[in-house]
Amino acid sequence: MIRACDKKDIPIIQAIINDGAQAYKGVIPDDCWHEPYMPLDELRREVKDGVKFWGWEEDGKLVGVMGLQDVKDVTLIRHAYIRTAARSKGIGGKLLEYLKGKATRPILIGTWAAATWAIGFYEKHGFRLVSTAERDKLLPKYWRAPQRQFDSSVVLVEVEKANKAHEGH
Ligand SMILES: CC(C)(COP(=O)(O)OP(=O)(O)OC[C@H]1O[C@@H](n2cnc3c(N)ncnc32)[C@H](O)[C@@H]1OP(=O)(O)O)[C@@H](O)C(=O)NCCC(=O)NCCS
Repeated sequence: MIRACDKKDIPIIQAIINDGAQAYKGVIPDDCWHEPYMPLDELRREVKDGVKFWGWEEDGKLVGVMGLQDVKDVTLIRHAYIRTAARSKGIGGKLLEYLKGKATRPILIGTWAAATWAIGFYEKHGFRLVSTAERDKLLPKYWRAPQRQFDSSVVLVEVEKANKAHEGH
């Protein structure tokens, strides 16, 4: 079951992110890895900055989360994490499709270039990678992160709404 998360869920959201982020260990550049991957104060700041989370609940417990953040003229998908034990059962796909339906603006996703599984997952759900030149314009415009992280990241755009936005111009 998909449900909206609220402030009470912040500790469990943090636990899910930090569990899910273990997938990056040894994969992303070593100097980009830190533990906990998501400190509590950073997550609280993200929520304050407008990241709204939805989660997948099973037997009354959240096992996966995904966030949306409206920034300027686009919507970002932020912090998509499914607990390691609950992965590859379609939960991530259901959450992503649900959030795609909620967003009315063009949707962008930023992730680690080394997270090839995540890139494949997003491509399966109607996103395409943008060029490096486009990435270099989009990352500083819509995200806040160190340049080192930008250099190790990719950006994907949801094809359907991006095309519509383009036609509208
Ligand atoms: C990416 C993620 C959110 C997908 O959620 P999920 O519930 O596992 O996704 P689904 O079951 O709907 O889809 C699974 C698909 O994702 C991709 N995928 C997920 N994990 C994978 C892995 N370890 N290796 C390769 N592909 C993987 C595959 O395309 C897979 O399809 P398949 O099951 O047919 O092989 C989840 O795997 C996750 O939390 N990963 C670790 C954190 C992460 O990378 N988050 C993305 C941050 S932007």
